[in-house]
Amino acid sequence: MLPSDSNLRILLLGNGGREHAIAWKLSQSPLVSHIYAVPGNGGLAGLSHVTCVPDIKADDFEALAKFGKEKKVNLLIPGPEAPLVEGVVDYFHDQMGGYGADGKRGIRCFGPSKAAARMEGSKTFSKDFMQRHGIPTARYKNFTSSASSFAAASAYIESESLASPPRRVVIKASGLAGGKGVIIPTSTAEAITALREIMLEQQFGKAGDEVVVEEFLEGDELSVISFVDGSTVMSLPPAQDHKRVWDGDRGPNTGGMGTYAPTNIAGKSVLESIQRVQEMTVMGMRKEGFPFVGVLFTGFMMTQSGPKVLEYNVRFGDPETQSLLPLMKTDLAKVMLACTDGKLHTVNLEVLPKSAVTVVVAAGGYPGSYAKGTPMRLDDPHPSNTDTVLFHAGTSLSASGELTTSGGRVIASTAVADTLEDAVRKAYEGVKAVHFEGMQFRTDIAGRALKK
Ligand SMILES: Nc1ncnc2c1ncn2[C@@H]1O[C@H](COP(=O)(O)OP(=O)(O)O)[C@@H](O)[C@H]1O
Ligand SMILES: [Mg+2]
Repeated sequence: MLPSDSNLRILLLGNGGREHAIAWKLSQSPLVSHIYAVPGNGGLAGLSHVTCVPDIKADDFEALAKFGKEKKVNLLIPGPEAPLVEGVVDYFHDQMGGYGADGKRGIRCFGPSKAAARMEGSKTFSKDFMQRHGIPTARYKNFTSSASSFAAASAYIESESLASPPRRVVIKASGLAGGKGVIIPTSTAEAITALREIMLEQQFGKAGDEVVVEEFLEGDELSVISFVDGSTVMSLPPAQDHKRVWDGDRGPNTGGMGTYAPTNIAGKSVLESIQRVQEMTVMGMRKEGFPFVGVLFTGFMMTQSGPKVLEYNVRFGDPETQSLLPLMKTDLAKVMLACTDGKLHTVNLEVLPKSAVTVVVAAGGYPGSYAKGTPMRLDDPHPSNTDTVLFHAGTSLSASGELTTSGGRVIASTAVADTLEDAVRKAYEGVKAVHFEGMQFRTDIAGRALKK
């Protein structure tokens, strides 16, 4: 690598537990000199290599690029999907010059172009992509919202319900809906109501301009996160999220209440077919003229007829990342540079032969309405428990050093251990160090895996 590569000045976009975990891991790299987190959070503010920049809006690309030039930033890492789907990578390449294997030396961006980010930004687009490339996914039909196609979509749902055996459907607003755009109805009437709300009443605004109606799939879910440099794909161990807010997978869906990795629900041959799907996806994108750089996160349903893709995300998952990065032995900055430079094949991605568990501590009421600005305290970890990290998600640190809650998911307690049992125990020990009024968390993260 060039000597200047060991002087990375990073602009990291986002304010969640995922971004804290990314910065925590990058801070361990000798290649990184400084990280600017826009806007950052209370945990990022506490890291020695990190400066939080709360007064720039993460969607103000002009201000971001101006700041990037001023601070001589040489690597952009967008954490969440919204800036990627809006084209932040293309904007930075325009403003600061592209970077690539063809000798260009502008800013490196660890993330996909706007065209490639459609894989997450548009579910109708990604479903058609999967169909074009023979990638296993649920049967589906896409619709554009209008009165006449509402009638057509309703008729499709009716016909699915009249099939023998009847087929249940899932309804998805195509655009970004902050994890709320997927409805799983329990009856045809409920399905048509959901359809009306999305297509005619614009419940999700523009995100509902297009709709996917697809077959309901039964099975366990699994998340696979892969590093991609445009052609090479290297995957981290499979992880499992816990989406529902309460124990026993009850209650409304959330952004994710906890994860563990690796999962034990996929054997070797299934993992091989999952890796094949990742490779087919990346090759397909390359062939269609929008090669993928960054993290490709694929959600799978493990059905009786094999793994099927539920969706693609074009960035790290939250809270999967909190479990996966502490398991990664290889320098994250090195892997990211290999991705931006099209040299991922030169890297040996090493993963610790251990388990990781993340338990999310949320504000009372989440995912409904919840209090913000609640004072909080974090005890120092027990000296014997050096494998537990408290990643901050929704916290802020005031100038005078007071920590308060500032979001629904507040803290992610992550632990790494030789066994899954120990990782669970240590992650819950970490939760005991968290104190604020109204805090809630699931007590059964990885519980099903332990029973198996
Ligand atoms: N075809 C399907 N069958 C069963 N459950 C589904 C299906 N599609 C999505 N889901 C459930 O809904 C959740 C959200 O759907 P997903 O496609 O991942 O959208 P998003 O994450 O954008 O909300 C999934 O994690 C899964 O639990
Ligand atoms: Mg999802």
